[in-house]
Amino acid sequence: MSPISTKKHGDVLIVTSNNPPVNALGHAVREGLVKAIEEADADESVKAVVIICQGQTYFAGADITEFGKPMQMPMLPIVVDRIEACTKPVVAAIHGTALGGGLEVALSCHYRVAVPTAKFGVPEVKLGILPGAGGTQRLPRIAGVLKALEMATSGNPIGAKEAAHVGLVDRIIEGDLEPHAVAFAEEVRDIRPLPKTSERDDKVAEARANPAIFDEFRKANAKKFRGFEAPEAVIKAVEASLKPYAEGVLDERRLFMELMTGTQARAQQYFFFAERKAAKVENVPEDTKPRDIRKVGVIGAGTMGGGISMNFLSAGIPVTIVEMEQAALDRGTGVMLKNYEATAAKGRMTAEQVGQAMGLLTPTLKLEDLADCDLIIEAVFENMDVKKDIFTKLDAIAKPGAILASNTSYLSIDDIAAVTSRPQDVVGLHFFSPANVMKLLEVVRGARTAPDVLVTAMQLAKRIKKVAVVAGVCYGFIGNRMLIPRQMQAMQLLLEGATPQQIDKVHVEFGMPMGPFQMSDLAGVDIGWHRDPTRIENIRDALAAEGRWGQKKGAGFYDYDDKRNPSPSPRVAEIIDEFRQKTGTAQREISDQEIVERTLYTMVNEAALILEGGFAQRASDIDVVWVYGYGWPVYRGGPMFWADTEGLSRIVEGIRNQLPRLGKDFKLSELLVSKAEAGEKFTR
Ligand code: 3HC
Repeated sequence: MSPISTKKHGDVLIVTSNNPPVNALGHAVREGLVKAIEEADADESVKAVVIICQGQTYFAGADITEFGKPMQMPMLPIVVDRIEACTKPVVAAIHGTALGGGLEVALSCHYRVAVPTAKFGVPEVKLGILPGAGGTQRLPRIAGVLKALEMATSGNPIGAKEAAHVGLVDRIIEGDLEPHAVAFAEEVRDIRPLPKTSERDDKVAEARANPAIFDEFRKANAKKFRGFEAPEAVIKAVEASLKPYAEGVLDERRLFMELMTGTQARAQQYFFFAERKAAKVENVPEDTKPRDIRKVGVIGAGTMGGGISMNFLSAGIPVTIVEMEQAALDRGTGVMLKNYEATAAKGRMTAEQVGQAMGLLTPTLKLEDLADCDLIIEAVFENMDVKKDIFTKLDAIAKPGAILASNTSYLSIDDIAAVTSRPQDVVGLHFFSPANVMKLLEVVRGARTAPDVLVTAMQLAKRIKKVAVVAGVCYGFIGNRMLIPRQMQAMQLLLEGATPQQIDKVHVEFGMPMGPFQMSDLAGVDIGWHRDPTRIENIRDALAAEGRWGQKKGAGFYDYDDKRNPSPSPRVAEIIDEFRQKTGTAQREISDQEIVERTLYTMVNEAALILEGGFAQRASDIDVVWVYGYGWPVYRGGPMFWADTEGLSRIVEGIRNQLPRLGKDFKLSELLVSKAEAGEKFTR
């Protein structure tokens, strides 16, 4: 049965799509839409058409599962042109999210009406492509070139109010959408000529008079677009909208096909599904019901505890935050308020919302005040004895069924759980710093963590707008465990002759937001340091002993000026040299390729060991961790997808070449080797 049905209401033909879950514009939908428009044209009694969707949303775009497969006619660009060519007025009746191809369908309709909660966007850029069904040509004609550039390069949606303001929506409908859309269609049924977006010129004429707008936009966003191919193609396509529609749309098609057949698009589309797969927990009964979380407790009001609390407060969930001393408590809550106020100053929150969020916070010095919390998250100093002590106390205080979570980034959840009488209620919730900003949450599944605790954690993550990935209990879980070989190799490379600048440059050129030493300086060289300035066993110890703790001290692996601009440090070069002599390491020229092999290939190897040990559910979860937790460039899909693109045999060969330098503890993953030998991939 076709997902598209038609029915008449008076002389209006109502075309309804019913293609759950998101009314993606798959083949049957496209075919049905063309048929419906033909029906409208052929039936003299039809005077106007309404296109509406059932379920949670208007068309949320092309069907991404069809990408990479042979396309079946009619293709979307043909469908949208057919809609616009209809001889009767066509009205798009929009609810939910009109995204990508969905918005392009709406733009090809002669009119658009929408409910106040509707959202409009062209997120194709997030899939490494561009709005390829006339979107780059119609959107600027309706909303103006600048708005089109903003929407199509960011992929972020706008709300109905703004959409109406920029001319995307003709009427906001309060009340039932279908009857109001039909009434609207009746109102416009006799207006001729039909308003066709592709024929409009007023908005693009403004840009024609000011063609510098495109280069200005490129320049203003250069940093944001670094490494990505799609944004530049979007700009070129929107630039082509200054030409007549028929010509511009050919440019759009060519640019679309170039992107669609490229590696970045494959990576970003792969990642779209990877992210959604990550939410699925393996080995829990399907009917597992989550526990009810109405109130959260957080222990520790430091940077992590405060950031973690803000996630819940922002989602409207009350938080009780505990500290040991009043001064620390006041400082912590003060920082939270300051962070909220900074968000408000940027216009992303109202003062009222700040008040509401802070109003849900109860600061206290008494652990006993957590007795009525449904979830308690410990976010204190990274020390097993301290954590064990807290969990012992929590076991006595927390109500039955409360979930007890630790924000540890390395330590064993099983060891922590073992001090309680309820290990089934204990789970790791590893937030990434700054916890109120970073999207990633590692949910650490202990040996005895109950299925409903896991399911609750995953559901809660969605509520607080995080992307959760399940990890097993191993040192550093998924993300930080993979940092270890990278950091070790980066340090060793310094001894052998590379500089921090060279190593960081290779990582930044690869697409990472920063290299390992820039990251150390930002996070703090002293993190995890033993704090004994007389015990100097490696370069890091030497830096830490001299107070070179990174950006916060104006000195780390780099020197910093008072605006925190880095420059290469002669003192660090001396320290490296001293260690080189002490360890008898010969200095040699290090190639950028060697840096890739020793820092990135070894990370892939560690990831393979993680999979081998069952500490990640699937390879794509590892990619989600690295993209959302550490800024791995999404256009490379994540470490596992990237390894597949490099070729696993090349990775293994690269590692084997480097084996003599990788240290005695390095272990080559059997899984990696066997996959390489079998010509298999991790992700497809
Ligand atoms: N095609 C195929 N499947 C899709 C899809 C799409 N465009 N959008 C969502 N889905 C699937 C998801 O994979 C998921 O499947 P699962 O349940 O099996 O995991 C299911 O629909 C529900 O999706 P979400 O979990 O994401 O549901 P939410 O309610 O959280 O979000 C949404 C809904 C905002 C519509 C979100 O799914 C979304 O952003 N979708 C993608 C929109 C998009 O990128 N559109 C552009 C497509 S490209 C295009 O149109 C090209 C054109 O220009 C030619």
